[in-house]
Amino acid sequence: MISMKAAALSSFGGPEVLALMDVPIPQAGPGHVRVRVLSAGVNHFDTGIRRGWAPPSVDTSFPVIPGNEFAGVVDQVGDGVTGSATGDEVLGFCTLGAYAEYVVVAAEQVVRKPRSLPWDIAGGFAVNGIGAHLCLSEMGVARGDTVLIHAAAGALGTFAVQLALAWGATTVIGTAGPANHAYLASLGAVPVTYGAELSAQVRAIAPGGVDTVMDNVGGDTLRASVGLVKEKKRIRTMIDDELAAELGIPALTPKRSIRQLEEVAEQYAQGRIKLHVREEFPLARAAAAHRAIETGHGRGKIVLRVAATR
Ligand SMILES: NC(=O)c1ccc[n+]([C@@H]2O[C@H](COP(=O)([O-])OP(=O)(O)OC[C@H]3O[C@@H](n4cnc5c(N)ncnc54)[C@H](OP(=O)(O)O)[C@@H]3O)[C@@H](O)[C@H]2O)c1
Repeated sequence: MISMKAAALSSFGGPEVLALMDVPIPQAGPGHVRVRVLSAGVNHFDTGIRRGWAPPSVDTSFPVIPGNEFAGVVDQVGDGVTGSATGDEVLGFCTLGAYAEYVVVAAEQVVRKPRSLPWDIAGGFAVNGIGAHLCLSEMGVARGDTVLIHAAAGALGTFAVQLALAWGATTVIGTAGPANHAYLASLGAVPVTYGAELSAQVRAIAPGGVDTVMDNVGGDTLRASVGLVKEKKRIRTMIDDELAAELGIPALTPKRSIRQLEEVAEQYAQGRIKLHVREEFPLARAAAAHRAIETGHGRGKIVLRVAATR
Protein backbone atom coordinates (compact mmCIF):
# COMPACT_ATOMS: atom_id res chain seq x y z
CA MET A 1 0.00 0.00 0.00
CA ILE A 2 1.31 3.45 -0.89
CA SER A 3 0.61 5.67 2.07
CA MET A 4 0.64 9.36 2.89
CA LYS A 5 0.71 11.42 6.07
CA ALA A 6 -2.54 12.93 7.29
CA ALA A 7 -3.67 14.68 10.46
CA ALA A 8 -6.65 12.47 11.18
CA LEU A 9 -9.10 11.22 13.79
CA SER A 10 -9.54 7.68 15.10
CA SER A 11 -12.06 8.95 17.66
CA PHE A 12 -14.03 12.17 18.24
CA GLY A 13 -13.14 14.58 21.04
CA GLY A 14 -10.82 17.43 21.98
CA PRO A 15 -7.89 18.68 19.89
CA GLU A 16 -5.69 15.85 21.24
CA VAL A 17 -7.56 13.27 19.12
CA LEU A 18 -6.14 14.85 15.97
CA ALA A 19 -2.90 12.96 15.24
CA LEU A 20 -0.48 12.41 12.38
CA MET A 21 -1.04 8.98 10.83
CA ASP A 22 -0.29 6.97 7.69
CA VAL A 23 -3.33 6.44 5.46
CA PRO A 24 -3.72 5.21 1.85
CA ILE A 25 -3.14 7.78 -0.89
CA PRO A 26 -6.51 8.44 -2.59
CA GLN A 27 -6.86 7.83 -6.34
CA ALA A 28 -8.58 10.24 -8.75
CA GLY A 29 -11.63 8.55 -10.29
CA PRO A 30 -13.56 9.82 -13.33
CA GLY A 31 -14.19 13.57 -13.23
CA HIS A 32 -11.80 14.06 -10.33
CA VAL A 33 -8.30 15.40 -9.77
CA ARG A 34 -5.77 14.55 -7.12
CA VAL A 35 -3.89 17.47 -5.61
CA ARG A 36 -0.58 17.26 -3.76
CA VAL A 37 -1.41 19.59 -0.90
CA LEU A 38 1.03 22.30 0.13
CA SER A 39 -1.21 24.26 2.46
CA ALA A 40 -4.64 23.74 4.08
CA GLY A 41 -6.87 26.19 5.93
CA VAL A 42 -8.22 25.59 9.44
CA ASN A 43 -11.92 26.29 9.94
CA HIS A 44 -14.51 26.10 12.70
CA PHE A 45 -16.22 23.51 10.48
CA ASP A 46 -13.20 21.21 11.04
CA THR A 47 -13.41 21.55 14.82
CA GLY A 48 -17.08 20.55 14.61
CA ILE A 49 -16.09 17.44 12.63
CA ARG A 50 -13.45 16.64 15.25
CA ARG A 51 -16.07 16.85 18.01
CA GLY A 52 -18.33 14.40 16.17
CA TRP A 53 -20.70 16.74 14.32
CA ALA A 54 -21.15 16.25 10.56
CA PRO A 55 -23.60 17.47 7.94
CA PRO A 56 -26.15 14.83 6.92
CA SER A 57 -24.84 12.42 4.26
CA VAL A 58 -21.18 13.00 5.14
CA ASP A 59 -19.38 9.73 5.86
CA THR A 60 -17.37 10.03 9.08
CA SER A 61 -16.11 6.46 9.43
CA PHE A 62 -12.62 6.37 10.94
CA PRO A 63 -10.04 7.41 10.18
CA VAL A 64 -11.61 10.79 9.44
CA ILE A 65 -9.36 13.37 7.79
CA PRO A 66 -10.73 16.87 8.41
CA GLY A 67 -9.97 19.87 6.24
CA ASN A 68 -12.24 21.55 3.69
CA GLU A 69 -9.89 23.84 1.77
CA PHE A 70 -6.41 23.50 0.32
CA ALA A 71 -3.85 24.72 -2.19
CA GLY A 72 -1.40 22.55 -4.08
CA VAL A 73 -0.37 21.00 -7.36
CA VAL A 74 -2.51 18.64 -9.47
CA ASP A 75 -0.63 15.34 -9.68
CA GLN A 76 -3.27 12.95 -11.09
CA VAL A 77 -6.21 13.56 -13.42
CA GLY A 78 -9.18 11.18 -13.67
CA ASP A 79 -10.94 10.10 -16.87
CA GLY A 80 -13.07 12.75 -18.52
CA VAL A 81 -11.37 15.76 -16.95
CA THR A 82 -10.58 18.38 -19.58
CA GLY A 83 -9.93 21.62 -17.70
CA SER A 84 -7.03 20.45 -15.48
CA ALA A 85 -3.64 18.92 -16.09
CA THR A 86 -0.87 17.56 -13.89
CA GLY A 87 1.35 20.37 -12.70
CA ASP A 88 -1.48 22.93 -12.43
CA GLU A 89 -1.19 25.12 -9.33
CA VAL A 90 -4.65 25.28 -7.79
CA LEU A 91 -6.71 26.10 -4.75
CA GLY A 92 -10.02 24.56 -3.90
CA PHE A 93 -12.54 23.21 -1.45
CA CYS A 94 -13.87 19.87 -0.26
CA THR A 95 -15.89 18.65 2.72
CA LEU A 96 -13.20 16.54 4.36
CA GLY A 97 -9.70 15.38 3.55
CA ALA A 98 -7.48 18.45 3.17
CA TYR A 99 -5.31 17.83 6.26
CA ALA A 100 -3.26 15.38 4.19
CA GLU A 101 -0.46 15.19 1.67
CA TYR A 102 -2.95 14.36 -1.11
CA VAL A 103 -6.64 15.12 -1.58
CA VAL A 104 -9.02 14.02 -4.35
CA VAL A 105 -11.86 16.35 -5.38
CA ALA A 106 -14.23 16.86 -8.31
CA ALA A 107 -12.42 18.82 -11.02
CA GLU A 108 -15.00 21.64 -10.61
CA GLN A 109 -13.84 22.23 -7.04
CA VAL A 110 -10.49 23.76 -7.94
CA VAL A 111 -9.43 27.00 -9.63
CA ARG A 112 -6.04 28.10 -10.88
CA LYS A 113 -3.99 29.82 -8.19
CA PRO A 114 -3.12 33.41 -9.14
CA ARG A 115 0.67 33.62 -9.47
CA SER A 116 0.81 36.41 -6.92
CA LEU A 117 -1.04 34.38 -4.26
CA PRO A 118 1.48 32.80 -1.85
CA TRP A 119 0.93 29.15 -0.93
CA ASP A 120 0.17 29.75 2.74
CA ILE A 121 -2.56 32.27 1.92
CA ALA A 122 -3.89 30.15 -0.94
CA GLY A 123 -4.49 27.19 1.38
CA GLY A 124 -6.73 29.28 3.61
CA PHE A 125 -8.57 31.17 0.89
CA ALA A 126 -11.49 29.12 -0.43
CA VAL A 127 -13.95 28.58 2.43
CA ASN A 128 -14.12 32.13 3.75
CA GLY A 129 -13.72 33.67 0.29
CA ILE A 130 -16.74 31.73 -0.96
CA GLY A 131 -18.63 32.25 2.32
CA ALA A 132 -18.15 36.01 2.25
CA HIS A 133 -19.18 36.21 -1.41
CA LEU A 134 -22.28 34.11 -0.79
CA CYS A 135 -23.38 36.10 2.24
CA LEU A 136 -22.76 39.58 0.80
CA SER A 137 -24.58 38.57 -2.39
CA GLU A 138 -27.66 37.55 -0.42
CA MET A 139 -27.42 40.74 1.66
CA GLY A 140 -27.55 42.59 -1.65
CA VAL A 141 -24.44 44.66 -0.90
CA ALA A 142 -24.23 47.39 -3.52
CA ARG A 143 -22.73 50.77 -4.26
CA GLY A 144 -23.45 53.34 -1.56
CA ASP A 145 -24.40 50.89 1.20
CA THR A 146 -23.42 51.22 4.85
CA VAL A 147 -22.63 47.66 5.93
CA LEU A 148 -22.21 46.26 9.45
CA ILE A 149 -20.04 43.14 9.72
CA HIS A 150 -19.75 41.31 13.04
CA ALA A 151 -16.50 39.49 13.93
CA ALA A 152 -14.93 41.49 11.13
CA ALA A 153 -11.30 40.76 12.06
CA GLY A 154 -11.70 36.97 11.84
CA ALA A 155 -10.97 34.98 8.71
CA LEU A 156 -14.49 35.31 7.32
CA GLY A 157 -14.84 38.95 8.32
CA THR A 158 -11.50 39.83 6.74
CA PHE A 159 -12.82 38.71 3.35
CA ALA A 160 -16.25 40.25 3.89
CA VAL A 161 -14.96 43.73 4.80
CA GLN A 162 -12.77 43.97 1.72
CA LEU A 163 -15.28 42.42 -0.65
CA ALA A 164 -18.01 44.80 0.51
CA LEU A 165 -15.71 47.74 -0.19
CA ALA A 166 -14.72 46.26 -3.56
CA TRP A 167 -18.43 46.02 -4.43
CA GLY A 168 -18.91 49.72 -3.71
CA ALA A 169 -20.05 49.95 -0.08
CA THR A 170 -19.48 53.48 1.15
CA THR A 171 -18.92 52.55 4.79
CA VAL A 172 -18.15 49.19 6.36
CA ILE A 173 -18.49 49.11 10.14
CA GLY A 174 -16.66 46.14 11.64
CA THR A 175 -16.90 44.74 15.17
CA ALA A 176 -13.81 43.45 17.00
CA GLY A 177 -12.01 43.72 20.30
CA PRO A 178 -9.84 46.87 20.71
CA ALA A 179 -6.64 44.91 19.93
CA ASN A 180 -7.94 44.36 16.39
CA HIS A 181 -9.15 47.89 15.65
CA ALA A 182 -5.99 49.00 13.87
CA TYR A 183 -6.15 45.81 11.78
CA LEU A 184 -9.78 46.55 10.80
CA ALA A 185 -8.87 50.12 9.89
CA SER A 186 -6.06 48.76 7.69
CA LEU A 187 -8.71 46.76 5.78
CA GLY A 188 -10.76 49.92 5.27
CA ALA A 189 -13.43 49.31 7.96
CA VAL A 190 -14.60 51.65 10.70
CA PRO A 191 -13.91 49.62 13.87
CA VAL A 192 -16.33 49.38 16.80
CA THR A 193 -16.05 47.27 19.95
CA TYR A 194 -18.50 44.43 20.52
CA GLY A 195 -20.33 44.20 23.84
CA ALA A 196 -22.55 46.55 25.83
CA GLU A 197 -21.68 49.71 23.86
CA LEU A 198 -22.07 48.16 20.42
CA SER A 199 -25.43 49.67 19.47
CA ALA A 200 -24.52 53.18 20.65
CA GLN A 201 -21.27 53.08 18.67
CA VAL A 202 -22.98 51.92 15.50
CA ARG A 203 -25.73 54.56 15.84
CA ALA A 204 -23.08 57.25 16.24
CA ILE A 205 -21.69 56.27 12.82
CA ALA A 206 -25.01 55.50 11.12
CA PRO A 207 -27.76 57.48 12.92
CA GLY A 208 -30.45 56.36 10.48
CA GLY A 209 -29.40 52.70 10.69
CA VAL A 210 -27.14 50.59 8.51
CA ASP A 211 -28.36 49.22 5.18
CA THR A 212 -27.35 45.62 5.77
CA VAL A 213 -25.71 43.32 8.36
CA MET A 214 -23.51 40.21 8.17
CA ASP A 215 -23.63 38.33 11.48
CA ASN A 216 -20.78 35.93 12.25
CA VAL A 217 -21.45 35.72 16.00
CA GLY A 218 -25.12 34.89 16.61
CA GLY A 219 -27.16 35.17 19.82
CA ASP A 220 -27.39 38.65 21.34
CA THR A 221 -25.31 40.08 18.49
CA LEU A 222 -27.95 38.97 15.98
CA ARG A 223 -30.73 40.31 18.23
CA ALA A 224 -29.00 43.69 18.53
CA SER A 225 -28.58 43.83 14.76
CA VAL A 226 -32.35 43.97 14.23
CA GLY A 227 -32.42 47.37 15.92
CA LEU A 228 -29.49 48.69 13.88
CA VAL A 229 -30.61 47.95 10.32
CA LYS A 230 -33.16 49.83 8.22
CA GLU A 231 -34.82 46.64 6.96
CA LYS A 232 -34.56 43.29 8.76
CA LYS A 233 -34.73 41.44 5.44
CA ARG A 234 -31.18 42.66 4.70
CA ILE A 235 -29.60 40.82 7.65
CA ARG A 236 -27.93 37.43 7.11
CA THR A 237 -26.27 35.19 9.67
CA MET A 238 -23.53 32.67 8.97
CA ILE A 239 -23.97 30.97 12.32
CA ASP A 240 -27.37 31.20 14.02
CA ASP A 241 -30.12 29.91 11.71
CA GLU A 242 -32.39 29.02 14.60
CA LEU A 243 -32.50 32.52 16.05
CA ALA A 244 -32.73 34.02 12.56
CA ALA A 245 -35.92 32.02 11.97
CA GLU A 246 -37.31 33.16 15.33
CA LEU A 247 -36.56 36.82 14.50
CA GLY A 248 -37.96 36.62 10.96
CA ILE A 249 -34.55 37.07 9.32
CA PRO A 250 -34.20 35.29 5.96
CA ALA A 251 -32.09 32.12 5.99
CA LEU A 252 -28.91 31.97 3.96
CA THR A 253 -29.45 29.68 1.01
CA PRO A 254 -26.40 27.48 0.36
CA LYS A 255 -25.50 28.39 -3.22
CA ARG A 256 -21.74 27.94 -3.07
CA SER A 257 -19.94 27.72 -6.39
CA ILE A 258 -16.49 27.76 -7.86
CA ARG A 259 -17.40 31.00 -9.67
CA GLN A 260 -17.48 32.78 -6.30
CA LEU A 261 -13.97 31.53 -5.57
CA GLU A 262 -12.76 32.58 -9.02
CA GLU A 263 -14.11 36.08 -8.45
CA VAL A 264 -12.53 36.48 -5.01
CA ALA A 265 -9.20 35.10 -6.27
CA GLU A 266 -9.39 37.65 -9.10
CA GLN A 267 -9.99 40.41 -6.53
CA TYR A 268 -6.82 39.22 -4.78
CA ALA A 269 -4.87 39.28 -8.05
CA GLN A 270 -6.07 42.86 -8.60
CA GLY A 271 -4.92 43.91 -5.13
CA ARG A 272 -8.40 44.52 -3.67
CA ILE A 273 -8.28 41.62 -1.18
CA LYS A 274 -5.48 40.68 1.18
CA LEU A 275 -5.44 37.96 3.82
CA HIS A 276 -3.37 38.11 6.97
CA VAL A 277 -2.12 34.69 8.09
CA ARG A 278 -2.60 34.65 11.86
CA GLU A 279 -0.41 31.60 12.39
CA GLU A 280 0.95 28.74 10.33
CA PHE A 281 1.33 25.30 11.89
CA PRO A 282 3.04 22.23 10.42
CA LEU A 283 0.63 19.37 9.64
CA ALA A 284 1.97 17.42 12.63
CA ARG A 285 0.72 20.24 14.90
CA ALA A 286 -2.87 20.29 13.64
CA ALA A 287 -4.09 19.83 17.23
CA ALA A 288 -2.36 23.09 18.21
CA ALA A 289 -4.00 24.80 15.23
CA HIS A 290 -7.40 23.65 16.51
CA ARG A 291 -6.64 24.97 19.99
CA ALA A 292 -5.75 28.32 18.40
CA ILE A 293 -8.95 28.67 16.35
CA GLU A 294 -11.07 27.51 19.27
CA THR A 295 -10.01 30.54 21.32
CA GLY A 296 -12.56 32.41 19.16
CA HIS A 297 -10.24 35.43 18.98
CA GLY A 298 -7.58 36.76 16.66
CA ARG A 299 -7.21 38.30 13.23
CA GLY A 300 -6.98 36.69 9.82
CA LYS A 301 -6.53 33.01 9.05
CA ILE A 302 -4.90 29.95 10.61
CA VAL A 303 -3.31 27.55 8.12
CA LEU A 304 -1.47 24.23 8.09
CA ARG A 305 1.78 23.87 6.17
CA VAL A 306 1.48 20.41 4.65
CA ALA A 307 4.58 20.33 2.44
CA ALA A 308 7.56 22.64 2.55
CA THR A 309 8.11 23.13 -1.18
CA ARG A 310 6.39 22.89 -4.50
N1 LIG B 1 -21.97 29.15 7.53
C1 LIG B 1 -20.79 29.15 6.92
O1 LIG B 1 -20.68 28.78 5.75
C2 LIG B 1 -19.58 29.63 7.65
C3 LIG B 1 -18.36 29.71 6.98
C4 LIG B 1 -17.26 30.20 7.67
C5 LIG B 1 -17.41 30.57 9.02
N2 LIG B 1 -18.62 30.46 9.62
C6 LIG B 1 -18.78 30.86 11.03
O2 LIG B 1 -18.46 32.24 11.13
C7 LIG B 1 -17.85 32.48 12.38
C8 LIG B 1 -16.54 33.24 12.19
O3 LIG B 1 -15.63 32.39 11.51
P1 LIG B 1 -14.12 32.81 11.34
O4 LIG B 1 -13.45 31.70 10.61
O5 LIG B 1 -14.01 34.17 10.81
O6 LIG B 1 -13.64 32.83 12.88
P2 LIG B 1 -12.25 33.31 13.50
O7 LIG B 1 -11.25 33.52 12.43
O8 LIG B 1 -11.96 32.36 14.61
O9 LIG B 1 -12.56 34.76 14.09
C9 LIG B 1 -13.37 34.95 15.18
C10 LIG B 1 -13.50 36.47 15.39
O10 LIG B 1 -14.62 36.68 16.25
C11 LIG B 1 -14.38 37.87 16.96
N3 LIG B 1 -15.25 37.86 18.12
C12 LIG B 1 -15.18 37.07 19.22
N4 LIG B 1 -16.23 37.33 20.03
C13 LIG B 1 -16.97 38.29 19.39
C14 LIG B 1 -18.18 38.99 19.71
N5 LIG B 1 -18.85 38.73 20.82
N6 LIG B 1 -18.64 39.91 18.84
C15 LIG B 1 -17.98 40.18 17.69
N7 LIG B 1 -16.83 39.56 17.33
C16 LIG B 1 -16.35 38.63 18.17
C17 LIG B 1 -12.91 37.84 17.29
O11 LIG B 1 -12.45 39.17 17.44
P3 LIG B 1 -11.43 39.56 18.62
O12 LIG B 1 -10.20 38.69 18.43
O13 LIG B 1 -11.16 40.99 18.37
O14 LIG B 1 -12.13 39.24 19.91
C18 LIG B 1 -12.30 37.14 16.05
O15 LIG B 1 -11.71 38.06 15.16
C19 LIG B 1 -17.66 31.13 13.07
O16 LIG B 1 -18.67 30.94 14.00
C20 LIG B 1 -17.80 30.14 11.94
O17 LIG B 1 -18.32 28.91 12.38
C21 LIG B 1 -19.70 30.02 8.97
